[in-house]
Amino acid sequence: MKKEFLDLGQQPIANNFLTPDQFDGEYFFNLKVGFDEDTCLVSLLDFVDKSMLFNENYVYQSSGSQTMRKHFSDAAKLIPKGSRVLEIGSNDGVFLKHFDTKQAIAIEPCSNFAAITGDLGYKTYAEFWDTDMAEVIVSEDGEQDYVFSANCFCHIPTLDEAFQAIHKVLKDGGIFIFEDPSLGKMIERTSYDQIYDEHAHIFSVTALKKALARNGLTLTKVEPLSVHGGSNRIYACKNPSGEIDRSVHEHLIEEDQAGLNKMETYEKFAKRIRASKISLVHILKENKNNGRGYKTISYGATSKSTTVFNYCGIGPDLIEYITDTTPDKQGKYSPGMHIPVVPYEGNFDETVDYAFLGAWNFIDEIKKKEHDFLMRGGRFITHVPIVRIIGG
Ligand code: TMP
Repeated sequence: MKKEFLDLGQQPIANNFLTPDQFDGEYFFNLKVGFDEDTCLVSLLDFVDKSMLFNENYVYQSSGSQTMRKHFSDAAKLIPKGSRVLEIGSNDGVFLKHFDTKQAIAIEPCSNFAAITGDLGYKTYAEFWDTDMAEVIVSEDGEQDYVFSANCFCHIPTLDEAFQAIHKVLKDGGIFIFEDPSLGKMIERTSYDQIYDEHAHIFSVTALKKALARNGLTLTKVEPLSVHGGSNRIYACKNPSGEIDRSVHEHLIEEDQAGLNKMETYEKFAKRIRASKISLVHILKENKNNGRGYKTISYGATSKSTTVFNYCGIGPDLIEYITDTTPDKQGKYSPGMHIPVVPYEGNFDETVDYAFLGAWNFIDEIKKKEHDFLMRGGRFITHVPIVRIIGG
């Protein structure tokens, strides 16, 4: 049974950047999070209907940053030449495009993206992942040597069924590689903005080991990744013949020591989040009210920043606008707080004094890119791991 430890208040659909005519009917729900002592899963108390989240209007593009393009190009090298691979949640094809169209197939519920990889020549099912789809794939395309999935499984409320479907689609000895944000890193960094409607769960290795085992899969290896603010790449196998990598044991011990199996840890996390909100709002109000007329904007119109802005009550009075390089977000307004989203070009110039890092997970890439901004006295603001100002 899930026990609530955090209430992030009324929240909109995190990725639903909208136009003014849509403000009136905007959907909100109460974003609450719970911990289940039996399964060790940290999950939302109420899940938002999947068709509201993942549909033909989905805007997040995995290939939107150099960091992620490089990440997926490296990830593709994990799949041996000639083996059959299925990607679940293929987005705009940033991983898939490293394969021959005969070697790889995909499934992606957002039909705008499924059409992109379809046009590139990859057979793409515009469907959600479940046991029925696993059966369709086995009969049409055969059992798979590998299944790859990035930032997708944490989106699936019915996790057990999703793992059963993996068991069905893999051949004996087949390997499932998946990566999602790490619960340990989120707790360590107080990066509560990992929590939003799409992230039905934030996984610990402990919880995944149990859930995979319940569904006939063995966790064989864990690889920490720096992407998305700290993720884990998980290797799971159907009837493994080799040994279990020592990384599994190491992560389980580490998580036990970090208290990820105890409710108390989550209650302390919630307390830190409340303090983070007070500090962030304080800095933004100071910027606004100190009489020097500082211009504060936000860098990267992320789902994560939707959680922060709505939880902290930060609107256009404190953040003038958000710059983002994604064309589909530009000209729209941020979910809930309705901060305008503008193109990066021409809007990140010498008039900007402070930029809140909505995309803090790309801090290295952004600092490099915005070296001149920092050199002329511009400052970034972040809330991860603690609220602070970052100078040149
Ligand atoms: P993510 O944190 O969910 O991956 O989203 C990153 C968002 O930030 C995406 O909309 C692209 C945007 N972005 C920029 O606008 N400029 C940048 O330099 C980077 C790295 C990201």
